[in-house]
Amino acid sequence: MKHAIMMDVDTGIDDALAIMFAVKHPDVDVRAISCVSGNVGLDSVVENTLKILDVVDAPDIPVAGGAIRPLVEEPRSAAYVHGEDGLGNVNLPASSRRALPVHAVEMMRQVLTDSPEPITLVALAPLTNVALLLRTYPECAQKISRILFMGGSASVGNATAVAEFNIWHDPEAAHIVINSGVPLTMYGLDVFNTVGVDADEVDQLAAADNHVAQVLGGLLSFRVPGPEGEPDRAFSLIGDAGAVCALVADELMHSETLPVQVQLAAGASRGQTIVDRRVHVGEDTIHGTAGQWPTVKVVLSADVPKVLDLFLGTLGIARVAV
Ligand code: BDR
Ligand code: CA
Repeated sequence: MKHAIMMDVDTGIDDALAIMFAVKHPDVDVRAISCVSGNVGLDSVVENTLKILDVVDAPDIPVAGGAIRPLVEEPRSAAYVHGEDGLGNVNLPASSRRALPVHAVEMMRQVLTDSPEPITLVALAPLTNVALLLRTYPECAQKISRILFMGGSASVGNATAVAEFNIWHDPEAAHIVINSGVPLTMYGLDVFNTVGVDADEVDQLAAADNHVAQVLGGLLSFRVPGPEGEPDRAFSLIGDAGAVCALVADELMHSETLPVQVQLAAGASRGQTIVDRRVHVGEDTIHGTAGQWPTVKVVLSADVPKVLDLFLGTLGIARVAV
């Protein structure tokens, strides 16, 4: 089955891996890529996205820059994860590709309007652009078959103890998207944190006689020492790329359809996705506190070896160390 998609990214090491995979996968038709402030500032996100399209020799895919900041909060970078340039300081050459001279929301609207069939929106970043699209042009929702987003968690967070970075960066945008009525799939931290390769495999990729593998190895090997010292080098996540794997290989994922809400209140839980996993629902009806929560298909786990085979195989890389 061919998947017509638009991607929304904050490239970002793992967004880069996701773009590479999506462009290379024969069943994915990338119609456009919108960029948003997140891991790094918008200009770097756009520049990184164009450079990564060069790495995989992509066709002429429209790219546009969108929101320079979240709806309410100040922007907060994740350069501590992705490097100052957002691409692990791998120093890719400048691209001769150019972003469209329009706001990403206008590009997204145009692509949806022109498409004969509905498109899946694969959102791998704070949901600011997507929320702006849905609020500015609500009629566009009819042309979006599904929003598959990397974000949130049914358990722990990363930006805070309970909030995942993309949702925490712009909780209001996430709230708009989750309550939009568009069918949703959430590829959250529960699964995101499990799909990775070990340090030996990363070293082999970096040393390979193949440009795509070398870039992949360079991106996956990037680490910034944190306050606790040198981070664990044992495991490199493919991150957002796993969400695109979920698009093409749903059978490799274990998912449940569950009620989800976003915590907007200030304080320790702001930006948390509250996933209702109760076996016996209905207690809040007894307490008189029940509300209508949107339901979301939540990916909770993956067949990791098969997902890695899919990811690397699509990039033309045979696994040597497993
Ligand atoms: C998400 O945050 C970003 O740092 C990554 O690109 C990913 O989309 C993980 O929390
Ligand atoms: Ca991302």
